Amino acid sequence: MKYNITCIPGDGIGPEIVNAAKNVLNTVGKKFGHEFVFKDILMGGASIDVHGIPLTDEAIADAKSADAVLMGSIGGDTNTSPWYKLEPSKRPEAGLLKIRKELKLFANLRPAVLFDDLSDACVLKKETSDRGFDLIIVRELTGGLYFGERKTFEENGVRTAIDTLKYDETEIKRIAVKAFEIAKKRRCKVTSVDKANVLDSSRLWRAVVNEVSKDYPEVKLEHMLVDNCAMQLVKDPGQFDVILTENMFGDILSDEASMITGSIGMLASASLNETKFGLYEPSHGSAPDIAGMDIANPIATILSAAMMLRFSFDLNKEADAIETAVKKVLSQGIRTKDIAISGEATVGCKKMGELIAENI
Ligand code: IPM
Ligand code: MG
Repeated sequence: MKYNITCIPGDGIGPEIVNAAKNVLNTVGKKFGHEFVFKDILMGGASIDVHGIPLTDEAIADAKSADAVLMGSIGGDTNTSPWYKLEPSKRPEAGLLKIRKELKLFANLRPAVLFDDLSDACVLKKETSDRGFDLIIVRELTGGLYFGERKTFEENGVRTAIDTLKYDETEIKRIAVKAFEIAKKRRCKVTSVDKANVLDSSRLWRAVVNEVSKDYPEVKLEHMLVDNCAMQLVKDPGQFDVILTENMFGDILSDEASMITGSIGMLASASLNETKFGLYEPSHGSAPDIAGMDIANPIATILSAAMMLRFSFDLNKEADAIETAVKKVLSQGIRTKDIAISGEATVGCKKMGELIAENI
């Protein structure tokens, strides 16, 4: 079979990690008899430099016409990059928000897994890391504060700004359904995270999630306040299976969840719409400080490519092959700089990609 993949190398370390993932996909293609055809588009700073805006209509059309999108990372140093002197709607991140909205990618899946071979890198207490954890955050991605009305104005001579947190029941229902469907294939537990002791949007969230849960009697549902969840993630992450939450809470909790694995360079993510179409990207950012140095960890991007094979193309064997190759390379003690313990020898981004490809 032939699959058309639109790639967004983006900014910072993006081009290096996407190249490593393409290399792995080509190897999978050869081994399993598929053809992956890549087409690169510009987004973020890379697009601003060429077109003056972070995402063009042509780029959106290219992404829409593909079978799936594989992304590296976008954005630069917000203190020093000239991209951040532009008005907010022209900055790199605006491109990412636009593509999420245009492609209707409302479901963002962010697994956080403690890899056995890397448990030494876990920042939690040893007794906690010994118990391990394997959770997935299901984050609503096209609503809430990110897309509500916002404005900055002066009121009686005082500078004032407003952002709006709005959800309707259809937006809550479709993401809740995704979370329950995923939980059914895992350990059958959903923790829905909100701030229902304060926010109306959270009270509606809770009510709708309760309604959806009636269709999934086999899945255990619990509700947790977001501040408590932030605490529980460091105290006892093993209690979680699927965490379901709105856009902003999911943004914050997913960074926390990735950090407790000790290896943010390892974590993949998928952003899906109602169909099998998705955009796949590492959970980490563009790391402008190490861009072009060939020291970035490509594993999160390579694992995102595996998620693409699984979720968008139903190529489960092929996805397994990538995940197994990653584990093999780690068990051989091969490390990029970010996951090495001090003194350990390391390999670069390109080499890590090649070694994973060789193990497929
Ligand atoms: C993420 C990022 C984005 C977000 C930024 C870059 C707009 O932090 O994907 O988590 O907040 O969604
Ligand atoms: Mg984030």
